[in-house]
Amino acid sequence: MPKITAIAPANIAFIKYWGKRNGSLNLPFSNSISMNLSECFTKTTVEFDEGLSDDAVKIDGKIATEKERARVSKFLDEVRKLAKMKAYAKVDSKNSFPKGTGIASSASAFAALALAGSRAAGLNLSKKELSILARLGSGSACRSTPDGFVEWKKGTKHKTSYAVQLVPPNHWDLRDIVLILSTKEKKVGSTEGHKLAPSSPFFKKRLQTLPKRINSLREALLKKDFPGFGRLLEQEAIELHIIAMTCNPPIFYLEPATWEIINKVRKWREEGVPIFFTLDAGPNVHLICESKNEKEILKRFGTIKGIQGVIVNKPTKGVHVEYPKCSL
Ligand code: DP6
Repeated sequence: MPKITAIAPANIAFIKYWGKRNGSLNLPFSNSISMNLSECFTKTTVEFDEGLSDDAVKIDGKIATEKERARVSKFLDEVRKLAKMKAYAKVDSKNSFPKGTGIASSASAFAALALAGSRAAGLNLSKKELSILARLGSGSACRSTPDGFVEWKKGTKHKTSYAVQLVPPNHWDLRDIVLILSTKEKKVGSTEGHKLAPSSPFFKKRLQTLPKRINSLREALLKKDFPGFGRLLEQEAIELHIIAMTCNPPIFYLEPATWEIINKVRKWREEGVPIFFTLDAGPNVHLICESKNEKEILKRFGTIKGIQGVIVNKPTKGVHVEYPKCSL
């Protein structure tokens, strides 16, 4: 059986996926919009082997924990079902960013595994089928399959919930400057956060108002209206944390250093620097700017204490095969 290596980027959500209407299929309550990240990616090699008695999984050079292996095996069961085969696989996965940096690796991990796994099993899935498959591993992974700027259409069932490209990577030379403020593993993972989200009294209201925000953000992205885009981006990031902090029990992802950066972003914006922030389910801050302002922003943040790392991302293509070379 062929040995296939695929590379997939992580992505930053501008409109967040938060809350699942079906937990086993990772079907979201709403659409979400994201950008693929050039410097945060996973490279995964898969080879099925009739001689194996179980899946053998390595992550960043180490044998995977039982929890990690079980999640990979569950996903490979879906691949085996599609390919009508029984063989177990050898999986070797490496992240470009150190584990525990608070950057979601599940999106890049499952997008890479979906492509490498399906090709290694002899399947040649369309981009749509690949996005659907990746979603079963981790919801946000479906957004790491198309190139550039992407929208995940929530759909009505398994077969209609997948991500499509809105515009290619070269549409807009944005930067996502990730400020790593904490490398600790978060106490409440996003899968748990999704489950709790509907218990917030504001969740229903969010679902009612979200379609309008999604349309406006998509429009601002297509028109490259940076101030309009940035305003919506921040509203969305704040709302994610409002929902998290008001669910039952509440989840607090933000730390004092997060607030310090948010205050700086607002102050510098008043001083005329075009910069906005977004947040994920963690304390790290993603600074969004246009490429022409990158240097000025890096200079300003260079002077702040407590930043443990900085990753500067550009928009990039989605999952693709590295070996053997091919067009996807
Ligand atoms: C806050 O895709 O990690 O990053 O489907 O349970 O694997 P699972 O969740 P995951 O959730 C991502 C949550 C988020 C927002 C987003 O990326 O849209």
